Amino acid sequence: MSKGRVLVCDDEMLIRLWLEEHLREEGYAAEGVADGTTLLSALEREPADLILLDLRLPDASGLDLLPRIRALDPTLPVIMITAYGEVETAVAAVRAGAHHFLEKPIQLPELLLLIEQALETRLLRRELDQDREGYRWQFSDVVLVGRSYAMRKVAELITRLGIKGSPANVLIRGESGTGKDVVARAIHARGPRQAFPFIHVNCTALPENLVESELFGHEAGAFTDARGQKRGLFELADRGTIFLDEIGDMPKSVQAKLLHFLENHALRRVGGIRDLSLDVHVITATNRDIEKAVASGDFREDLFYRLNVVLVHLPPLRERPEDIAPLALHFVDLLCHELRLPQRHLSADALRALEHYDWPGNARELRNILERIVLLEDAEIIDVSHLPPRLRSVPEHGERTFVLPPAGVSLDDLERELICQALERTAGNKTGAARLLGLSRDTLRYRLEKYGIDGATARP
Ligand SMILES: Nc1ncnc2c1ncn2[C@@H]1O[C@H](COP(=O)(O)OP(=O)(O)OP(=O)(O)O)[C@@H](O)[C@H]1O
Ligand SMILES: [Mg+2]
Repeated sequence: MSKGRVLVCDDEMLIRLWLEEHLREEGYAAEGVADGTTLLSALEREPADLILLDLRLPDASGLDLLPRIRALDPTLPVIMITAYGEVETAVAAVRAGAHHFLEKPIQLPELLLLIEQALETRLLRRELDQDREGYRWQFSDVVLVGRSYAMRKVAELITRLGIKGSPANVLIRGESGTGKDVVARAIHARGPRQAFPFIHVNCTALPENLVESELFGHEAGAFTDARGQKRGLFELADRGTIFLDEIGDMPKSVQAKLLHFLENHALRRVGGIRDLSLDVHVITATNRDIEKAVASGDFREDLFYRLNVVLVHLPPLRERPEDIAPLALHFVDLLCHELRLPQRHLSADALRALEHYDWPGNARELRNILERIVLLEDAEIIDVSHLPPRLRSVPEHGERTFVLPPAGVSLDDLERELICQALERTAGNKTGAARLLGLSRDTLRYRLEKYGIDGATARP
């Protein structure tokens, strides 16, 4: 079986034949064409996996061909070949969507490496795209990604709350950067309140003496500086959602008032004499150990139980490494789109390096790192060399991660056990399991058969 169909488009016959020959030796199904028209018809006849395209062709410029190739296959990698000194045109080529460009004279090892990377990235993307449904949820304008069991459960919960239109109080817990904001916004966006305000309040950021009037408003003359009447954030959120972030930092004095609101769906402005009825969905979040604050008397226990009707726990990213790749691909797409930059791709090695890091700053750290690379590096393919040093160590085989027990071990049993664990962790997703084990999907499939493991239940 060939490693992929590569179309070589160059009008110089010697170069074309030379490339064809070497590519075939490397196991590619190479087909040479001499001009743009033949290239397009070859592509229409049978899909290709990669195109090597000379910038100057007798009947067209490679630059003009790019959009027509894109129209036939939007994700087909194209490596543009340019004459020495055509840097500007080459830059234009990359902007126009070429995967990469190479200057003549072509260095074979470099070319082969580029081809391999481009194909590997494309394969990976394809596999991920295949089960995109399983790892990407769109709640109105909020996108949530993840393929771990934990994220699937979260997505399911958001959907269920949305369908019921339930205003049950939700408490979101998780370390900093685990996605508490996204989840809160997703709950709002998925539910019947989406057309009404979503108000995010960071309880830590509010000065203590103002918290109460910020949240609940005040009447004229309620205190020295209160000249006119003011509506609070709860009133502004009427019929929508208020997201009280870092709820653990809410001053004790305000906690009683919040509890009153949760019990009566009504509040009184500071200095007011009447209760106002409001319909506000309250979502809270914290990365602190609230139980401790309850034990020390800093947080009211009755309020804690009120807020905690529905609990969403977001585990740290290091405990759900199968979410790293989908998050990384999502962030790269999103950042390129937001920053209006040409699409970038992550090399398979870079993805592996990202998956081997333990992410103390969780998804936010991942996003920040990718943002810096997308902004500062021009390369089309983000590779390990672009990553910060702390991430560059892809573990080599032979590194001592297991210690052989004194009594020895059955390799077959160990292998079977690890395969089962990988499948369990990825909820039966073979692409993800194969990646965790450093295997190709085919190799994994072969071993599943060998051990008689049912991929779906992950047990023999
Ligand atoms: N599952 C996810 N899908 C899509 N984007 C995510 C996901 N998790 C996190 N993000 C993104 O990662 C970044 C950090 O997440 P977020 O701000 O929600 O974290 P947080 O838990 O609220 O952190 P903090 O406690 O510091 O406020 C955001 O840009 C967010 O959009
Ligand atoms: Mg947050």
